Amino acid sequence: MKKRTITIGSLLISACLCVGPLAFADMPGPDPGSLWDHITKVSPYKEWSFWPDHQGMQPGRAPHGPLHKVYVNDRALNSSRPPVQYGAIEVKENYSKAMELKAITVMYKVQGYNAKDGDWFWAKFTPDGKAKPFGKPAGCVGCHGTRAKNDFILVHEFN
Ligand code: HEC
Repeated sequence: MKKRTITIGSLLISACLCVGPLAFADMPGPDPGSLWDHITKVSPYKEWSFWPDHQGMQPGRAPHGPLHKVYVNDRALNSSRPPVQYGAIEVKENYSKAMELKAITVMYKVQGYNAKDGDWFWAKFTPDGKAKPFGKPAGCVGCHGTRAKNDFILVHEFN
């Protein structure tokens, strides 16, 4: 009887240890190739949502360009306060005035990636998926860091 209890107990523990990492098994590592693959093939960002307070095409500021759309995945959308959940991704399409897609800038929240600056992985992609810069670029981190309290997010206010 005692032996059985231990067995069930250890089964429960192993189940708990598994479920955590499994929840992230479908998420890419902090590298531009897997991130691009994720947002274009595994979970195409055009099927995601917008923040309720930042829907569709919006005017933007330098350095990103005059027009943009910001798509957010469920983990971002379901975060009611900063910091957003790990696995959250924001994909920003940057357009010229003539509505030509110029660049795709991405923020991806990765546990343990860069704790001192909000654990964000940053990337700027060309429309065909070439990343430069990516990682923890001082420019991205510094400018967005002015809103570190809003988890480095500039287009959405958490209430
Ligand atoms: C000089 C300031 C500045 C720099 C540098 C900058 N951004 Fe931004 N970013 C903004 C502003 C302002 C917005 C709000 C939307 C807009 O005006 O285009 C924004 C919005 C975004 C968003 C939409 C999500 C959000 O609300 O924050 C993403 C994603 C993003 N930037 C990624 C990047 C990446 C990646 C880099 C570096 C390659 C970068 N940004 C560099 C100012 C900056």
